[in-house]
Amino acid sequence: DETLRSLADKNGIYIGAILNSQWFGGGLPGNYEQIHKSQFNIVVAENEMKFDATEPQEGRFNYNNGDKMVRYAQQNGMRVRGHALAWHSQVPGWVNNYKNDKKKLLAVLKNHIEKVVGHWKGQVAEWDVVNEAISNNEPQWRTGSVWYQGIGPEFIDSAFVWAHAVDPDAELCYNDYNLEQGVNPKAKAGFLLEQVKRWVKNGIPIHCVGSQTHVEDTTTDKHFIGSPDSLRSLAKELAKLNVKLKITELDIGFKSGINVSKSDLERQGQTFRQYLDIILEEPNADTYLIWGVSDKWSWLGGLNRQKGLIYDDNLKPKPAFDSILVRL
Ligand code: XIL
Repeated sequence: DETLRSLADKNGIYIGAILNSQWFGGGLPGNYEQIHKSQFNIVVAENEMKFDATEPQEGRFNYNNGDKMVRYAQQNGMRVRGHALAWHSQVPGWVNNYKNDKKKLLAVLKNHIEKVVGHWKGQVAEWDVVNEAISNNEPQWRTGSVWYQGIGPEFIDSAFVWAHAVDPDAELCYNDYNLEQGVNPKAKAGFLLEQVKRWVKNGIPIHCVGSQTHVEDTTTDKHFIGSPDSLRSLAKELAKLNVKLKITELDIGFKSGINVSKSDLERQGQTFRQYLDIILEEPNADTYLIWGVSDKWSWLGGLNRQKGLIYDDNLKPKPAFDSILVRL
């Protein structure tokens, strides 16, 4: 029988879902792992390669959970995406001790990137080097992060340079959300595009943009903020710069508490399919990663959303699963 994975392989693309180390500790239904490895050819750790997980105390690195996932991927012939090196969130408390010491903070970030990328060199094929560094409200950098406040925007360029020096074969991405809301100078994607142009011009090693694509189906008349069409426009602009577009954290949730009807689930499936169209049709787009497997285990509750994934609470495929399977 065809699976997402076998069809993705035929199409020369990656389709995947996150892994979470808690799931390896038991407690998952018996068919979970079977589903996961038969349907997907790429994985990303939900939390296990983040700063707080890999360097919980200064200079003391912990790769155990990340290693487990890399081993799982290797045993099952899957590609591994690394997530994420420089991000404002999930940074351990000790880093903030240095927020007024630019030199020290630069050294902390450089050492972190060198150690983590070095540890998984040759095993992690691509990294989110910088995650969510753009403001969500206005076209400019996010100013609240410890990295921005302590170092300034140059932490971004430097992070790419450091990662590339350690693993010149790894694909290096800038990753962010709300990139499907238009490619104009006032939107996040427009601001990002200007930065990508500058990076390319200046020889900063950036190979891909990750679009998280956490979108919401509002079930109102308008249904969506943002659209697959505008993400496709971004892909086309990036192609001119020889930079790839990847969908890295897809989920299409409904508001918590509302009743989700069969036709809502069908529309959700069409939207999943429209985002997949980009990956299948744009030559510089190669990855379709979903931020979870079953609606039962999803971060979306924290966003006041629900039912954003392609398997239901009982690990049964939803209309969204069928819709992408048929398209592949
Ligand atoms: C989320 C995880 O899913 C949660 O388990 C964690 O508590 C918080 O982070 N953008 C990202 C991801 O880049 O790392 C986030 O993952 C979701 C939003």
